[in-house]
Amino acid sequence: MSVAVGEKSLSELSIRALTDADRGWLRDIIRQQWGSEIVVSRGHTYDPASLPGFVAEQDAQVAGVATYHVEGEACELVTIDSLIEGRGIGTALIEAVAGAARTASCLRLWLVTTNDNVDALRLYQKRGFRLSALYPDAIAQSRTLKPEIPLSGAYGIPIRDEIVLEMRLDVDEK
Ligand SMILES: CC(C)(COP(=O)(O)OP(=O)(O)OC[C@H]1O[C@@H](n2cnc3c(N)ncnc32)[C@H](O)[C@@H]1OP(=O)(O)O)[C@@H](O)C(=O)NCCC(=O)NCCS
Repeated sequence: MSVAVGEKSLSELSIRALTDADRGWLRDIIRQQWGSEIVVSRGHTYDPASLPGFVAEQDAQVAGVATYHVEGEACELVTIDSLIEGRGIGTALIEAVAGAARTASCLRLWLVTTNDNVDALRLYQKRGFRLSALYPDAIAQSRTLKPEIPLSGAYGIPIRDEIVLEMRLDVDEK
């Protein structure tokens, strides 16, 4: 499979659904990227390695992974990690999860990020997500569930707030 991004094309990048055979390395990547095996979102604790998701592979190597959780008519993008940034892998994973959410008859795809994650905020907004809620100081509560959450994050910005973004799947807002 080849994924074209703008005028550039990434040969050998393929996206496939996670299977049970992927759970071992996925747990390692989650621990490495997220500081522990769990992630906390809006006070809910997830074990991403047990969730459905997609893996991006390039030359038979894992290049990125995303996990999601469907509840009713909403799909939460729980984790997304690109191991080779700026090559379209994050975008391809978002598209794959949006496709799975549509297949599951979801009306919206949503996610939670933190105030420091300005790179992710840029990507999400350019890929069709809208800001939908701000929870100031929510990370203090998240730290009671996951003490590994560092005090500062991207660019040395203090990690304090949760920001919810969402993409409507039943209307084309582009
Ligand atoms: C946020 C994250 C998933 C983005 O992944 P990514 O693979 O870098 O995303 P993309 O490559 O699709 O997009 C990033 C930028 O690279 C550009 N890009 C895409 N393909 C490209 C290519 N072939 N060559 C050069 N640039 C490219 C995109 O245009 C985009 O820029 P833009 O926003 O100005 O359009 C990644 O930074 C990451 O894993 N961060 C750490 C974990 C994290 O924070 N996850 C989110 C938690 S909420």
